[in-house]
Amino acid sequence: MPSLSVFGAQWGDEGKGKLIDFLAENQDLVVRYQGGANAGHTVVVEGEKYVLHLIPSGILHAEKVNMIGPGVAVDPIKLLEEIDGLLERGVHVDGENLRLAAGAHVIFEHHKRIDGLSELWRGKGRIGTTGRGIGPCYADKAARTGLRVADLLDPTRFRERLGAALAEKNALIERVHGEAPLNVEEQIDLYVSMGDRLRPLVADVGAEVRRAYREGRSILFEGAQGVMLDIDHGTYPYVTSSSTGVGGIAGGAAFPPQHIEEAWGIAKAYCTRVGEGPFPSEIFGEAAEALRKAGNEFGATTGRPRRAGWFDAVAVRYAFDLAGASGWIMTKLDVLSGLEEIPFAVAYSRGSERWTEYPAHLASMDDVQVELETLPGWSEDITGVRSFDDLPATARAYVEHVEKITGVPIVMISVGPGREAVIRRSS
Ligand code: GDP
Ligand code: IMO
Ligand code: MG
Repeated sequence: MPSLSVFGAQWGDEGKGKLIDFLAENQDLVVRYQGGANAGHTVVVEGEKYVLHLIPSGILHAEKVNMIGPGVAVDPIKLLEEIDGLLERGVHVDGENLRLAAGAHVIFEHHKRIDGLSELWRGKGRIGTTGRGIGPCYADKAARTGLRVADLLDPTRFRERLGAALAEKNALIERVHGEAPLNVEEQIDLYVSMGDRLRPLVADVGAEVRRAYREGRSILFEGAQGVMLDIDHGTYPYVTSSSTGVGGIAGGAAFPPQHIEEAWGIAKAYCTRVGEGPFPSEIFGEAAEALRKAGNEFGATTGRPRRAGWFDAVAVRYAFDLAGASGWIMTKLDVLSGLEEIPFAVAYSRGSERWTEYPAHLASMDDVQVELETLPGWSEDITGVRSFDDLPATARAYVEHVEKITGVPIVMISVGPGREAVIRRSS
């Protein structure tokens, strides 16, 4: 496929990493365009588990080129840790197969500090961020006070700009939050040394992606987070600070949107969310605990237990509509094995109001209720199934029904964490 966007259609952790690794087999380039090390993308190959935060999920295929686009917020400490971790495990990573955009904004120590301190300040109104400095970095980008990867490579300019930024940030840390300021010289030296290590990877990534496309090479755009966490279209303010869907690609990868041929959403056969914020189809108590356990729903970045709930057709349809999705991949169907019946949300309501289309105009989703329907479950372990026809009849019926109510064809079904656990769908 010349250009394919793969994005999360729920609140993140849909299994994007696994599927992007799988799909990368047939694509030449894998490009991240937004987010940062708040992402945790798990890939399992031959029983070996890799969790990727900043490096695109195509990195385990030796011959693919992986690019970190200008829309990504890059923490050099995390990126270097990730590179070193992969090298130690024998994964090939160098300036040939990993490219880093000169225009990507840099996450510094002060961004991470301020992320944590602002959360404390918000108290009950906290977002439940990953603490990776994402919001403060994108805020500086929008305020035009941020520093970019290219700045790291020019020590004179860098010293001046980081010095100026830290004067303000240290005042905030000290005078508003009452914490110890950062040592300016130490910070400058630390990041200049990391700039030296990253230098061989740095490129005009946008130009390289566009050139690759012109030359007929195929591109996979890897979304992080999910549409319901999108800064513009998600459950604001309980969102991340970037454009997580297809809309983020134009700016974040410097790629003309009219050249994006296909957009595939990834959604679990149920739903999870980490952090605070509305989650209309959320369940609690034993049922939630059982789903969390069966799906091993613990954050890949922070280890936090994920909140669990049922598939929400209203939210997923909204995500597909925003993306103009041409297909989707249902993940973690295997996790539902053993349930007598499977509930899924088909509408929202509040008082006498009822919505079958996502009510994005509401100020808050807090007191929105979901209307559930159910279908019969199955008891068989389906992790070994590789053909749709071999699924239990009730599992097929669930997939077909959910496909119908989302209005977008399911192109693949994932039935386990491993690369091989995929059912391709021809219809
Ligand atoms: P991402 O952020 O969208 O890449 O998803 P995460 O990696 O954060 O979370 C998905 C989790 O589910 C990871 O532990 C994956 O290994 C696992 N996973 C992915 N697909 C499947 C699946 O089809 N079945 C099961 N049981 N686990 C899966
Ligand atoms: P992947 O790519 C799930 C959530 C956080 C918090 C909110 C804002 O693995 O799907 P941030 O640190 O971005 O300022 O936090 O967004 N969040 C994620 N939830 N998966 C993710 O990434 C997430 N990245 C951020 O929990 O609620
Ligand atoms: Mg994740």
